[in-house]
Amino acid sequence: MSKIVLGVSGSISAYRACDLARDLMRAGHTVRVCLTDSAAKFVTPVLFETLTGNACLTDTFVEPTRGRMAHIDWAREADLILIAPATANTLNKIAQGIGDDMLTTLVLAAQVPLLIAPAMNPAMYTHPETQASIHKLQSQGAFFIEPTEGDVASGETGQGKLAPNADIIAITESVLSRRLTLNGKTILITSGPTQEPIDSVRFLTNRSSGKMGLAMARAAQLMGAKVILITGPTSLPDPANATTIHVRTAEQMLAAAQEQAPKANWIIGLAAVSDYRPANPSPTKIRRSEADLTLTLTPNPDIIATLAKENPTKRVIAFAAEPTQDTEFATEKMHRKGVSAIALNDISNSQIGFQSDENELTLILANGETHQSGRKSKLGCALWLLDQLSENP
Ligand SMILES: Cc1cc2nc3c(=O)[nH]c(=O)nc-3n(C[C@H](O)[C@H](O)[C@H](O)COP(=O)(O)O)c2cc1C
Repeated sequence: MSKIVLGVSGSISAYRACDLARDLMRAGHTVRVCLTDSAAKFVTPVLFETLTGNACLTDTFVEPTRGRMAHIDWAREADLILIAPATANTLNKIAQGIGDDMLTTLVLAAQVPLLIAPAMNPAMYTHPETQASIHKLQSQGAFFIEPTEGDVASGETGQGKLAPNADIIAITESVLSRRLTLNGKTILITSGPTQEPIDSVRFLTNRSSGKMGLAMARAAQLMGAKVILITGPTSLPDPANATTIHVRTAEQMLAAAQEQAPKANWIIGLAAVSDYRPANPSPTKIRRSEADLTLTLTPNPDIIATLAKENPTKRVIAFAAEPTQDTEFATEKMHRKGVSAIALNDISNSQIGFQSDENELTLILANGETHQSGRKSKLGCALWLLDQLSENP
């Protein structure tokens, strides 16, 4: 197993690093923690020393072993450096090559993968300097674990919350095992719900949040692929460094996918596409009346079946969100749609699937083999699925 240096900087979410250290140790890794001075105001070295059984570094000039230079030793001995949480200050300093404390000095001395999980106020995260630092570090090969959207400690809402620990662990494992099996591939992903207009203000839609599609996009990037994400309306941020195309209706999604398909090696249909749309949407708002209102629905195009038919040489993978774990039904659907694999998720279980942060997949391959993911974070499921597909060409 691997040696991980966990860098913790002075964010309100520094307390989350305690569980993170334990979770990494449970996964079999050796964890050494380095705190910034500000982090040590939120959490103490003794806490991490007790949790990990190893010395915790804070001051550049306080060496755990006399006569040694820990910032060099730890940098050389590590397999990976994970900074979680990373403050705006630490992240911007690293991008500038500054080494004015133990953590930034250690990062400067290291030649191993660097994984950064930012946590900060949304204004700090979207600040042009912070974004420029992220892009600069990404271009130098650092991996970022994007913060999630939600209410942050300052009471505001926006992107800045430290990513869930399960995602941080899944990405750390992925980087450690260097699963860059999708290097050189472009993956087209359809995601989210569609909205089919009834009139100028109302529409038919479904409960898809787009979280699984976003997780798939990030997993594919982590495994070295280029990503084209075609998404229906969601409240999620666009993935960094991907081409994202926003659409509303199934017809728009199909048109965008047909345009992008020639650039893709694999096509993954994750969107929850409305099977039907109102046949004659009203261009103006339908007024209330006492009479019954009948909407006539007409079938939407089957996006993934159309893409599979039009791209017989590409790998096309469908998702089946069904209120059942019946693999016979999913297998029939795989053949009917002409795709090379189908991933079934059982949406009758409210703990997983739509809008939840977790999922559980059954992957059915064209040769009849089935594989079970077990319950995982959506990112963990996406990494698992792409691994399975890479191993079963
Ligand atoms: C209560 C409190 C919470 C803070 N939370 C964050 C945070 O989540 N993210 C951040 O970038 N800065 C945060 N800061 C500001 C940093 O602690 C400050 O910029 C500090 O200089 C960072 O030092 P470091 O990067 O060396 O750890 C917070 C400050 C305080 C007082």
